[in-house]
Amino acid sequence: MRKNIVAGNWKMNTNLQEGVALAKGVNEALKNITANCDVIIGVPFTHLAPVNDAIDSSKLGLAAENCADHKSGAYTGEVSAPMVASTGAKYVILGHSERRQYYGETSEILKTKVNLALENNLAPIFCIGEVLEERENGSYLNVVKTQIVDALFELSADDFSKIILAYEPVWAIGTGKTATAEQAEEMHAFIRGVLAEKYGQEVADNTSILYGGSCKPSNAAELFAKPNVDGGLIGGASLDVESFMGIVTAF
Ligand code: PGA
Repeated sequence: MRKNIVAGNWKMNTNLQEGVALAKGVNEALKNITANCDVIIGVPFTHLAPVNDAIDSSKLGLAAENCADHKSGAYTGEVSAPMVASTGAKYVILGHSERRQYYGETSEILKTKVNLALENNLAPIFCIGEVLEERENGSYLNVVKTQIVDALFELSADDFSKIILAYEPVWAIGTGKTATAEQAEEMHAFIRGVLAEKYGQEVADNTSILYGGSCKPSNAAELFAKPNVDGGLIGGASLDVESFMGIVTAF
């Protein structure tokens, strides 16, 4: 059966020393509880190797927030999937709406990134989600389906089973405006149906679908109680040990 997962997405926050301290704080806090979910932190590239050294990887997973769409070569400033994997990270967040919006990441580019991640044994945490206008004009289910189909549906069932999905309505990210548990459940159930049509019910049932967008300790339990919400991708609230742990313990 699918895993429950709470994953932090630090975005472009914390310098190296602050980041290592935050990772250690989460690692320590996890020693004192029995988490009913897998816990992952997504950190800036510069932090990956030192954070990996500072945490117990059997209790806390490590993710990059992106990787390049090329394996190696003359791409000044880029960080490849093999480089990420060599730090000890096991996951990579791909297709975040901020990457799509500010860095022009298309489904075509994301398809390449997903393939490179999988070739390097990194599990993609693949983000999808509609903007406010698409929510309001009623096209949101189709928008999300298209994002999934275009970037992921050329994968074999075996490869697809390594993907973690994160539904993040763009209008809820960093805005304090969370989707209601019912809105999240509607989308997650719809996504699972789309997966079942393509890969069969077993693969669909085994895929973790996280919710992201202003998830915090005060609303996590209600969201996670929904049958198709398998955890969260947490931005702002992952930058503080207490609030992140408040979400981890919502399971
Ligand atoms: P937020 O971000 O929790 O700060 O809304 C979520 C995300 O962008 O992954």
